Amino acid sequence: MKILIVGGNGTIGKRVVDSLKEKHELVIAGRSTGDVTVDISDSGSIQNMFSQVGNVDAIVCTAGEAKWAPFESLSEEDFNIGLKSKLMGQVNLVRLGQLFLSDGGSFTLTTGILADDPVLNTTSAAMVNGGIHSFVKAASLELKNHRINAVSVGVVEDAYEKYQDYFPGHNPIPTQKVVNAYLKSILGAGTGQVIRCYE
Ligand SMILES: NC(=O)c1ccc[n+]([C@@H]2O[C@H](COP(=O)([O-])OP(=O)(O)OC[C@H]3O[C@@H](n4cnc5c(N)ncnc54)[C@H](OP(=O)(O)O)[C@@H]3O)[C@@H](O)[C@H]2O)c1
Repeated sequence: MKILIVGGNGTIGKRVVDSLKEKHELVIAGRSTGDVTVDISDSGSIQNMFSQVGNVDAIVCTAGEAKWAPFESLSEEDFNIGLKSKLMGQVNLVRLGQLFLSDGGSFTLTTGILADDPVLNTTSAAMVNGGIHSFVKAASLELKNHRINAVSVGVVEDAYEKYQDYFPGHNPIPTQKVVNAYLKSILGAGTGQVIRCYE
């Protein structure tokens, strides 16, 4: 399969890439690195990426940002970061990407544990994760030729040191479990699923 992985050089993305690169043709996209550059918060940039990459058999997104800060300090502009990047960035990847995805192809989006089990300072990130979960369920009803799923993981072991103070009592998620959640979506048959990996 020819697989586009947006965010393929990131902490999660590079593990997904490592697990797929022997058997598949991968195209890695990132904001500043990769085979092609894209800013998912800009739909023109997404369109430009697809024009360069052409048709693919699977589209994976392991990119998307949201501002973390106490709720009382978050401005409307701060919320817009998550809305434009992690939420509409991924929605636009699907909206524009369906024209470049082969029949039977899949979308795999990335959310996270905050949708179900938020911690302090994450009103924006939790909100956009939950939005993607609902989007995936609804879009799967209408995407007749394509599958769509979201992978929602806890703090991955590769990033545990960086995030552990924000997630008291949470367990680091082993890399293989994280990778398997993506493989289930990309190579499996399910659609409309939120593949949760929290333990
Ligand atoms: N790490 C965790 O424990 C964890 C747990 C649950 C969910 N998540 C979610 O999973 C996603 C990936 O996390 P991560 O830890 O792998 O992040 P990361 O290490 O920061 O990597 C993110 C990747 O996405 C790219 N990227 C970021 N913003 C982009 C944009 N606007 N357009 C295109 N590419 C963009 C980055 O490219 P450049 O480097 O070129 O900017 C980078 O390759 C995030 O949405 C995060 O919220 C992470």
